[in-house]
Amino acid sequence: MHVLVLVGSLRAGSLNRRLAAVALRHLPAGTTATVWPDLGRLPHYDQDLDGGLTGTVPESVAALRTAMTAADALLVVTPEYNGSLPGVLKNALDWLSRPRGQASIAGKPAAVLGASLSGYAARWAREDAVRVLRVAGADVLEETVGVPGGPAAFAGDLLVEGELDHAVGDLVGALLGRAQALAA
Ligand SMILES: Cc1cc2nc3c(=O)[nH]c(=O)nc-3n(C[C@H](O)[C@H](O)[C@H](O)COP(=O)(O)O)c2cc1C
Repeated sequence: MHVLVLVGSLRAGSLNRRLAAVALRHLPAGTTATVWPDLGRLPHYDQDLDGGLTGTVPESVAALRTAMTAADALLVVTPEYNGSLPGVLKNALDWLSRPRGQASIAGKPAAVLGASLSGYAARWAREDAVRVLRVAGADVLEETVGVPGGPAAFAGDLLVEGELDHAVGDLVGALLGRAQALAA
């Protein structure tokens, strides 16, 4: 099993990047993951760039689509920006949702995590990410896990609250279970 991970924050000290690391610690032996390194280098979605007259797509888009096709599951880890998911993440999901009918994201098991400074734990962003993933054609888990409280919630690649860490592990387990059922 291989998991593609998209983190919706580009900043070096991102809590959501740390949350992705927390989630990856829950992967069973033999399961691998790629945290996609350059969501920020994707061009803004433009239908004229998507196949267009030449039938080609920008290299960064082709690489992301190939990675999605090769992955068994998708994990989205999102901050909340003004009550929703960051544009950079929405942009990546828009690219993955095309071409219509042959999209690399179609049918892929997906799950959503999010961290923010507030007690709401990026709830609106998580909800919006689930909706976008569903519309894009992913087989997305409705349940998500949010980490409130900002940096104080983390101790390295661990969550301070054991129950929350378990919830992340359960979500990762459910995602892999869905992927295994599809592969069987
Ligand atoms: C442009 C912007 C908008 C934000 N809007 C929200 C918001 O609507 N709700 C919220 O809880 N936090 C909001 N925040 C705070 C982020 O949740 C916080 O900065 C978080 O640490 C960002 O995730 P990161 O650490 O992974 O970069 C916002 C931050 C930025 C930069």
